[in-house]
Amino acid sequence: MLTELDQIERKALQALESSQDEATLEAWRVAHLGRSSPLMLVFDQLGSLAKDERPIIGRRANEIKRVLEAAYSARSESLRQSALQRSLQSERLDVTLPGRALPVGRLHPATISLRTIIRAFADMGFQVYRSPEVETDDFNFGLLNMPPNHPARDKWDTYYTNMPNTSLRPHTSPGQIHVMRQYAPEPIRAILPGMCYRYEQVSANHETQFNQLEVLAVGRNITFGDLKGTISNFARRMFGENFRTRIRPSYFPFTEPSAEYDFECLLCGGKGCSVCAGTGWLEIGGCGMVHPIVLQNGGYDPEKFSGFAAGLGTERIMMLKHRIEDIRYFWANDMRFLEQF
Ligand code: DAH
Repeated sequence: MLTELDQIERKALQALESSQDEATLEAWRVAHLGRSSPLMLVFDQLGSLAKDERPIIGRRANEIKRVLEAAYSARSESLRQSALQRSLQSERLDVTLPGRALPVGRLHPATISLRTIIRAFADMGFQVYRSPEVETDDFNFGLLNMPPNHPARDKWDTYYTNMPNTSLRPHTSPGQIHVMRQYAPEPIRAILPGMCYRYEQVSANHETQFNQLEVLAVGRNITFGDLKGTISNFARRMFGENFRTRIRPSYFPFTEPSAEYDFECLLCGGKGCSVCAGTGWLEIGGCGMVHPIVLQNGGYDPEKFSGFAAGLGTERIMMLKHRIEDIRYFWANDMRFLEQF
């Protein structure tokens, strides 16, 4: 009987070696520790053994049972470990790989150009001032020396709102009055950027909405020379040290004298091409010495104070810098255009 038990033990341990997965391990358990396994049959037969044999066989059978159970759990644990290792290997995750970049937004080209221009003026000591996009008739025209029915008003095709005498500003010049009224009688060096709206026929260089930047300096000794110096200095900051500008006489109701300024055509370098109509110059904006009536409306005594003002279309500057031939690209929301900046 004892040799039989030794054999049972040896066979069982041998068979365990070859169980490679959960299923064969379970089959092994049923075969070697289950109710009808050879070992359990030995327990069943204990009663029919001789009295003196019974404890010896019983002890040995119990010992084998413990050995097999321990071997079973060891095997089960090692199968579990190797299954874990396998899955770690096959689903390997390299945490040092760079992440996938998310698509992020970017600044609109109009914002980029506005910021570049603002920085150039800020470096010259101008402060940024924000004025409203919706203005009364008075601010848009009246206080800028254009009383009702003044013919110059026709120059600005204005969007009126359903509130009396109120419109979307057609230019940033009304902001001049706001700054002056806030700072009078202190000297002023300010720029006023912002969106303007005009009821216009849309074309390659006209849009119904666009950004303008108003420049205003008021003080006791401001001259036309300061105006010219500021414009040419700004142009050089934007386009380089040898960049040329020029000023021509013009008319605006809110400046006296008034002028328009041109930048050297960047596309032909001043030689003359189709963009500048062969002149070598591109018209950029209006300017002049602030009209005494406007100074007065702003709260300054025109006998003691003088000032210069200028306005420029900031998209125009961006068009020059990047040779963009159509202003409509700015608000068309075409990603192919926007992604280039
Ligand atoms: N506000 C004018 C326009 O939109 C531009 C302008 C001209 C602004 C002369 C000025 C200026 O400050 O002095 O057409």
